[in-house]
Amino acid sequence: MILLAALMLINIASAASADDVAQGRAIYLQHCASCHGLAADGNGPMARVLTTPPANLRQLSERYGNPLPVDQIARYIDGRADVKAHGPRDMPVWGKRFYSEGQGSESQVKDLIAKLVAYLQSIQTGVRSASRN
Ligand code: HEC
Repeated sequence: MILLAALMLINIASAASADDVAQGRAIYLQHCASCHGLAADGNGPMARVLTTPPANLRQLSERYGNPLPVDQIARYIDGRADVKAHGPRDMPVWGKRFYSEGQGSESQVKDLIAKLVAYLQSIQTGVRSASRN
């Protein structure tokens, strides 16, 4: 039973550890659920006041493939490079926010975002992810 659960987790999170996924979920609930929803389906309480609807994050794999392109998703969440290229956006620039919360630690920013991506990977409903949802 434990072995089976472990195999499922390896399957879901591939390179990421179960710990990363759990921590990523906690960070998600704290910072992202207000817009993207508790279930990450884009239906958070803030969604109705935004001009651009927050994405359904369970379906990222339909757009980006599964497994998700980790660097691309991380760069998007960070947003600092994006804003330089495309100007302001409705999605908050988390890189900036985490950077000031972490008192200027770039490695902490990377770590938080990597955990978020591990969590997002674990909830993809696309074909190749395990179906524990
Ligand atoms: C203030 C509301 C808000 C919060 C909070 C928020 N987002 Fe978003 N997010 C958005 C909006 C709006 C979009 C759609 C942006 C667009 O299409 O221009 C988006 C898009 C995204 C996308 C891209 C989806 C795609 O299809 O390309 C990802 C990934 C994402 N958000 C992750 C996160 C994560 C992770 C957090 C928490 C750290 C978070 N968001 C917090 C509003 C929010």
